[in-house]
Amino acid sequence: MATAGELQARLDIDLYIQELCVPHDATFEQALRDAVAANLPEIHISPNEGKLLHLLAKIAGARRILEIGLLGGYSTLWLASALPADGELISLEISEEFARVARKNLDRAGLLPRVDIRVAPAQESLAAMVRVGEEPFDVVFIDADKEGYPAYLDFALRLTHPGSLILADNVLRDGGAAPGIKEFNQKLTGNPRLEAIILPIIRHKVDGLAIARVL
Ligand code: DHB
Ligand code: MG
Repeated sequence: MATAGELQARLDIDLYIQELCVPHDATFEQALRDAVAANLPEIHISPNEGKLLHLLAKIAGARRILEIGLLGGYSTLWLASALPADGELISLEISEEFARVARKNLDRAGLLPRVDIRVAPAQESLAAMVRVGEEPFDVVFIDADKEGYPAYLDFALRLTHPGSLILADNVLRDGGAAPGIKEFNQKLTGNPRLEAIILPIIRHKVDGLAIARVL
């Protein structure tokens, strides 16, 4: 357990980075307030993690992004804004209520035309994509139910190309102890088709972002 002083020191570092690296954007900040107002669970990524995803997508030259887990669309704002105007992001979400909040947030930022939201259990949408031979994605971001992570990784491998990035949130929660996460981390790091790193994301809790490149 971190002491109150250690926790404050972590939050201070996170805020220091945020103040330097995350420009104020009214639409992004309103998206977080709207998610709270709509009673969505407050489990969105942090602004700093959002900036990291945005940079990774740009460095990868992403034109097509797949997001598994939309929630209120905060990470979607970061990822979709990294795309060129003719790029596309497909986001999978099980809750119509979350999708409604996210659509409004993306529309306010002018990003809705680049985003295709599919409301269904993610594994159904993913199986349908494989079935129809969906064009591969340059970046896949996994941030949904943790039990589903191992299956999401299998689908991600079928829906990407050499050079694609596979990213996953929350892979260090409780030291990566949750059954789905533990299996996911083993599968990710043990797959000879992937080169991977897990980056600690330090905020109120210690968590992690997995970053893998498809060989
Ligand atoms: C939690 C955090 C997340 O980022 C997530 O995707 C799911 C749950 C949490 O804090 O419980
Ligand atoms: Mg998450």
